[in-house]
Amino acid sequence: MKSILVTGSSGLIGSEVCTYFAHNGYVVHGVDNNQRAVFFGESGDTRWNQRRLQETLPSFHHIELDIRDRDGMLELIQARRPSAIVHTAAQPSHDRAASIPFEDFDTNAVGTMNLLEAARRSCPESPFVYMSTNKVYGDRPNTIPLVELDTRWDYDDPAYANGIPETFPLDQSTHSLFGASKVAADVMVQEYGRYFGMPTCCLRGGCLTGPNHTGLALHGFLSYLVKCNVEGLEYRIFGYKGKQVRDNIHSFDVATFIHAFIETPRCGEVYNLGGGKGNSCSILEAFKLVENFTGKPQRWSYSDTARVGDHICYYSDLRRMKQHYPNWQITKTLNQTVSEIVTAWRTRLAATSVAE
Ligand SMILES: NC(=O)c1ccc[n+]([C@@H]2O[C@H](COP(=O)([O-])OP(=O)(O)OC[C@H]3O[C@@H](n4cnc5c(N)ncnc54)[C@H](O)[C@@H]3O)[C@@H](O)[C@H]2O)c1
Repeated sequence: MKSILVTGSSGLIGSEVCTYFAHNGYVVHGVDNNQRAVFFGESGDTRWNQRRLQETLPSFHHIELDIRDRDGMLELIQARRPSAIVHTAAQPSHDRAASIPFEDFDTNAVGTMNLLEAARRSCPESPFVYMSTNKVYGDRPNTIPLVELDTRWDYDDPAYANGIPETFPLDQSTHSLFGASKVAADVMVQEYGRYFGMPTCCLRGGCLTGPNHTGLALHGFLSYLVKCNVEGLEYRIFGYKGKQVRDNIHSFDVATFIHAFIETPRCGEVYNLGGGKGNSCSILEAFKLVENFTGKPQRWSYSDTARVGDHICYYSDLRRMKQHYPNWQITKTLNQTVSEIVTAWRTRLAATSVAE
């Protein structure tokens, strides 16, 4: 029977991947130690999602392990020898990294190295998928000429009409410590593909989102924005007039791409994975989308100071993914995604208030 090892299994992407592969006949080994609660406090706690997987997926096995535990990871992968590895565990916040630089680097860079080397020693033929980030490009996308529209910024250069391609330069820009630790891991994942011939790939995510995100101010933009609307909390915008653009992809469409790659892997690949221009929105536009579903006006405030290294406009060029995997496509529109997130927050918040 085929098996998959998923790190960060209680998180947004990890839990979606566990569910998708369990439904497709795999035994699923999920590694998570609820580190998100350590990084962000109680509102980052992902135990609810771990319990959901344990209660709903008979072939799911939870493993309480820290990816920084090198011996633990070597032993685990030697014992299970999974037929595929999907690595989603991370310190995921751009802003949080500066206050926990060692934890950030040890998790993102060293943790990835632990997994790669464990895979090389025990199952080098198993596809290895790493969730990277568009922050590897640093703030360099901000050097593209922009045009200011009523509710958003857009590229004013036809070379980027389809978005940012994988050939976009990485260095000599400001990444945030998070972006830099992810670059270290991203390059190492490519290297294990190119140097050792292992079937590895880096998915440089735009805004990955969906109903099972534990969104908070420091990470999970759309999930958190919806939560603020549903709870009547104020959402704070940092700079760029609220017209900064993100491309949003539902975690289900991330899982289907990972499946396509695992079925027909390549070595040392890199893909920009986001919603593309079709599923992009600015923060101001996101407010309207959510208001359409909840009927509640979004409360918000504004700070002129942008977040360090933040993108003014970013959407992924999806053509390389579609060229290599022509049967893969985005199935969830931004509207559908927002509607699912609204329903999920209503349900979770109602369950919390009953429990209290
Ligand atoms: N969500 C996004 O918008 C986005 C965008 C670009 C890239 N990414 C990347 O995608 C990946 C998944 O993101 P997500 O949104 O699902 O994150 P998430 O925080 O929801 O999930 C990550 C999970 O990893 C676990 N984890 C963290 N450190 C760990 C450790 N040391 N050992 C074991 N488990 C640990 C956390 O407890 C959490 O459950 C990350 O690598 C992130 O950098 C996410």
